[in-house]
Amino acid sequence: MRKIAICTGGGDAPGLNAVIRAVVLAVLKRGWECCGIRDGFNGMLMPEKYPQGGLINLSRDSVRGITHLGGTILGTTNRGNPLHFPVLGSDGTVREVDRSDELIAALRSQGIDSLISVGGDGSLSIANVLAKKGLTVIGVPKTIDNDLDQTVATFGFDTALSFATECLDRLHSTAESHHRIMVVEVMGRYAGWIALNSGVSGAADAILIPEIPYDLNSVVMKIKEREAQGRSYAIVVVAEGAVAKGGVHSVIEKEIGRAERLGGVGEKVAKELQSLTGKETRLVVLGHLLRGGTPTTFDRLIALRFGAAAVRALEEGQSGVMVALDPPTVRYVPLEEATRRMKTVPLHCDTILTGRDLGICFGD
Ligand code: F6P
Repeated sequence: MRKIAICTGGGDAPGLNAVIRAVVLAVLKRGWECCGIRDGFNGMLMPEKYPQGGLINLSRDSVRGITHLGGTILGTTNRGNPLHFPVLGSDGTVREVDRSDELIAALRSQGIDSLISVGGDGSLSIANVLAKKGLTVIGVPKTIDNDLDQTVATFGFDTALSFATECLDRLHSTAESHHRIMVVEVMGRYAGWIALNSGVSGAADAILIPEIPYDLNSVVMKIKEREAQGRSYAIVVVAEGAVAKGGVHSVIEKEIGRAERLGGVGEKVAKELQSLTGKETRLVVLGHLLRGGTPTTFDRLIALRFGAAAVRALEEGQSGVMVALDPPTVRYVPLEEATRRMKTVPLHCDTILTGRDLGICFGD
């Protein structure tokens, strides 16, 4: 009898519950046992915080009717990296401790022989280390930012993108009626996929992404050009990780043991555009709205396929690999390779070329 644990780590993404359901059903179908770790690895590393247990048994009933639900029934966190676990010292200072050996020992003491870790670059890098230390681990790629390499797509991205595009569609009429500039900030730390794809699909006038440092004078030129053509409004999409030429990321918080929190670039861009153009400007920050809601059919399906493929990988005796979409199939890529680099927007990709052909300004 094998016992498989599943955990979800990092920012949530629509489709996580579909992965969990597929994993549980595929595991039970093989006559094995399945359990879920609460809040990333916190359920194992801080069991005292979970009166009902940091590890929960997952049955058919636990995953009934969850495929279409956003979020994750297991909970998640972007704190509590077992390799850099924050510990409060007696002097009040926080230091980082490597608790990965303790985590592996705790899993083994529960009779768990394999782990399916669903997450983004952070969680998959942790999975890679755990696999190197001898734990049987399969990674499942998740992120709304679409910045994971070696997979054609991650689940969550399509849902976020569809919502962002719908928001842009809705903003056109109010922007036009009020003759305003609408600046729309979307998530995307180091990769501008959401901004680029929603901006092109939603007919934005300018798109600012982390891959192309911007100069607002070129956006102002675009807005003036539109005015000369009788169009008195503009839609500007800004990825949260966009940077001005020669500038730095807008960081709102830095904390030990977690990635820095970005934010504020939309506000900066809106203020500067208003003063440079004299036009009334409003800011809409889509932020975490992009992470909620029902996964699109595309996201649900790849999430279910990833979950089932992860269990097949375990059956085949694999470890240290990530399931990756490679249509028409799902393949297995070494975690080492999958986490080596980030998938950013290639500067000459055809979506950027399409945007330029449509007259969209990229701030360069
Ligand atoms: O999931 C990735 C992401 O959406 C980034 O684009 C964003 O910077 C981050 O999560 C924000 O996460 P949180 O507010 O949960 O720390």
